[in-house]
Amino acid sequence: MAGLTLKHIYKVYSGRKDSAKTAIKKRIAKRKGKAPATEKRSGDFVAVKDFNMEIEDGEFIVLVGPSGCGKSTTIRMIAGLEEISSGELYIDGELVNEVAAKDRDIAMVFQSYALYPHMTAEKNIAFALKLRKIPVELKDKAGNPVMGIDKKKIRELKRKQHDLELDLKFAAMDGEPEGYIASLQARLDKVKEDLAFYTNTPVQLYKMRHLTKAEIAEKVQWAAKILGIEELLDNKPAEMSGGQRQRVALGRAMVRGPKVFLLDEPLSNLDAKLRASMRLEIVKLHNELKTTFIYVTHDQIEAMTMGTRIVVMKLGVVQQIDTPTNLYDYPENKFVAGFIGTPQMNFFNVTVQRVGDTLSVSFENGEHLALDLKKLRKMDERFLDGEAHDVTLGIRGEHMHFATAESAFALHAILSVKEVLGNTTQMFVKLKEGGPDYIVSVPDRNSFSAGDTIGLSFEERHVHMFEKESEASILGREMGNE
Ligand SMILES: Nc1ncnc2c1ncn2[C@@H]1O[C@H](COP(=O)(O)OP(=O)(O)O)[C@@H](O)[C@H]1O
Ligand SMILES: [Mg+2]
Repeated sequence: MAGLTLKHIYKVYSGRKDSAKTAIKKRIAKRKGKAPATEKRSGDFVAVKDFNMEIEDGEFIVLVGPSGCGKSTTIRMIAGLEEISSGELYIDGELVNEVAAKDRDIAMVFQSYALYPHMTAEKNIAFALKLRKIPVELKDKAGNPVMGIDKKKIRELKRKQHDLELDLKFAAMDGEPEGYIASLQARLDKVKEDLAFYTNTPVQLYKMRHLTKAEIAEKVQWAAKILGIEELLDNKPAEMSGGQRQRVALGRAMVRGPKVFLLDEPLSNLDAKLRASMRLEIVKLHNELKTTFIYVTHDQIEAMTMGTRIVVMKLGVVQQIDTPTNLYDYPENKFVAGFIGTPQMNFFNVTVQRVGDTLSVSFENGEHLALDLKKLRKMDERFLDGEAHDVTLGIRGEHMHFATAESAFALHAILSVKEVLGNTTQMFVKLKEGGPDYIVSVPDRNSFSAGDTIGLSFEERHVHMFEKESEASILGREMGNE
């Protein structure tokens, strides 16, 4: 189990041909399983930009965003499968930038579950355990722990020291930013300090041994039971359904007892029905294991139903990190507002102007609605100066309804298409001929038909507003305006 800290993490894919020096440097970095800090240069592509996050032990974090926004790159950096261009990654407080993937105690499950086709489910799950070694205390004849100088640890630290010294040399040569050089120096100092300790201090010694057959069998049984695949252990992948194969892949990750589970779109290959049930299975698995999960998906429904916190990404940049309900209720920008929720939030180009206790909103069809400022979320003062301001007003389809005699106001729209889904009815409406379609989602069926004019209303508390230029929300989380 582990908490994670991501500090100013960047991933820059180099887009230009490397100079001889850079090529050598990269080769060395590659051999060491890491790369030196990279500043953006022309032709470089920034796949992840300044990712900052504190993940508590046991959280279920979902990274969500459209294809290509840097989700996989981010978790591959956490796994150690991709070099971190710059920034720091801590697992349980320990800086792991230099720790190889296999030593990070992380298990990853991918979309393509890559089971060995010739092995049974049991063998597939057990496979990694057979290669695994665990430390056992060395004991003397009297059964007392053996103390001594840990030569292996010293060798490992010396190697780290050497690598860091090389990095520092290159960083100075390349005129890398001071902050990066300082962080390298700090890491080197820590390694030297550890080296001094282990060189002079006898510690309890361990030897490594393989797991016994019985130990392996016990772990496989444990995972199979939780996943409900005990009956399938003798089957080969070809004899299993997609969902069953994905369970085996999960089992393979589970038996390693990782500190963190990373799942990269593990359900995308499954059909919709199976995906919905596996979604539930994975949430249950998380409840059972209580280990930190980081789950990648481009599907906002998966994100909303699974995550305790969700990270919404766009073009390599984190847009908002929040709970599912906060993302829905308080999207911090137009992108998040449009990405989270189905049907997609309606966005209206409007002009707003404060008139006493009301906000006068002018729509594209020429109608002006007077919203009660006290019932609206707290609005950025700059827009309440009595002048007219162009903004984007957002309202979700499910927050619009047919206006009645009691409604404070009505916005008139023309019905273009009606979709009866059974539990809800989606009404596609326009505010004026040739204008864009908006969606109104109502719980009941109704007798309106295409071409009808419909009076629509909504509550002020469901209104979102975004600045035109920056697309940032201009409404706070608390209610009411003075
Ligand atoms: N090895 C690579 N070299 C160059 N660009 C890459 C490489 N891997 C990914 N990218 C680019 O980085 C961006 C983010 O990719 P990725 O993290 O896979 O996105 P996601 O998982 O969110 O779909 C994409 O634009 C992709 O084309
Ligand atoms: Mg991906």
